[in-house]
Amino acid sequence: KQGLQVAIDGPASAGKSTVAKIVAQRFHYIYCDTGAMYRAITWKALQTGTDLGDEAKIADLLAHSEIRFEPGTPTQKVFVDDTEVTLAIRQPDVTNSVSQVSALPAIRKELTSRQRQIAAEGGIVMDGRDIGATVLPNAQVKIFMVASVAERAQRRLKDNAAKGITTPLATLKHEIEERDRKDSTRAVSPLTQATDAIRLDTTSLSIEQVADRIAEIIREKE
Ligand code: C5P
Repeated sequence: KQGLQVAIDGPASAGKSTVAKIVAQRFHYIYCDTGAMYRAITWKALQTGTDLGDEAKIADLLAHSEIRFEPGTPTQKVFVDDTEVTLAIRQPDVTNSVSQVSALPAIRKELTSRQRQIAAEGGIVMDGRDIGATVLPNAQVKIFMVASVAERAQRRLKDNAAKGITTPLATLKHEIEERDRKDSTRAVSPLTQATDAIRLDTTSLSIEQVADRIAEIIREKE
């Protein structure tokens, strides 16, 4: 039996990747974190001192960059060419610049095409902002995960603590709102709920509860 395409979209820090990883494991599906791909090219642009507003230069940089995932615990590892960037792409400098890079149409076009290749065989859980609406419009399961800003900032604070990042809660709240605003208002495939996506408000749900709900939806379609 061939696996399904499962698209999980939603705003920053809604718990998409945590849940997507669990669901992928349960069904023996591949997990693809598309945000990590946008973060990876942003990291390389910052690293090389490339102007983040220069679309042609960043597109050229991306054309010559391999972004690769490798299995790892607790999270999969991310590589740009031969450099491991798993931790580097979660740092505040990348987090606060990524929306500028992800708004560039040439970057979206190239990463969308790479993401479609990764998902082509099915058996995949892919999370991001535009997966259900743009990258995989025929995905059999589409989830749109939301949670209050206060809850998302709390979750991010906890995540950050584990990574040794000490940004205060009020700043995180502000950064999350800013990133949502930029991601929702860009011209090309902004963050939006696909018309056929199932909306899941996770504010008062545990990770397990959300994963169980999505697993149930997958089983109905399998
Ligand atoms: O999911 P994560 O928060 O790591 O994504 C980082 C950023 O990458 C988002 O804020 C957004 O600007 C961009 N992104 C996107 N489309 C996706 C996934 C992420 O534009 N499918």
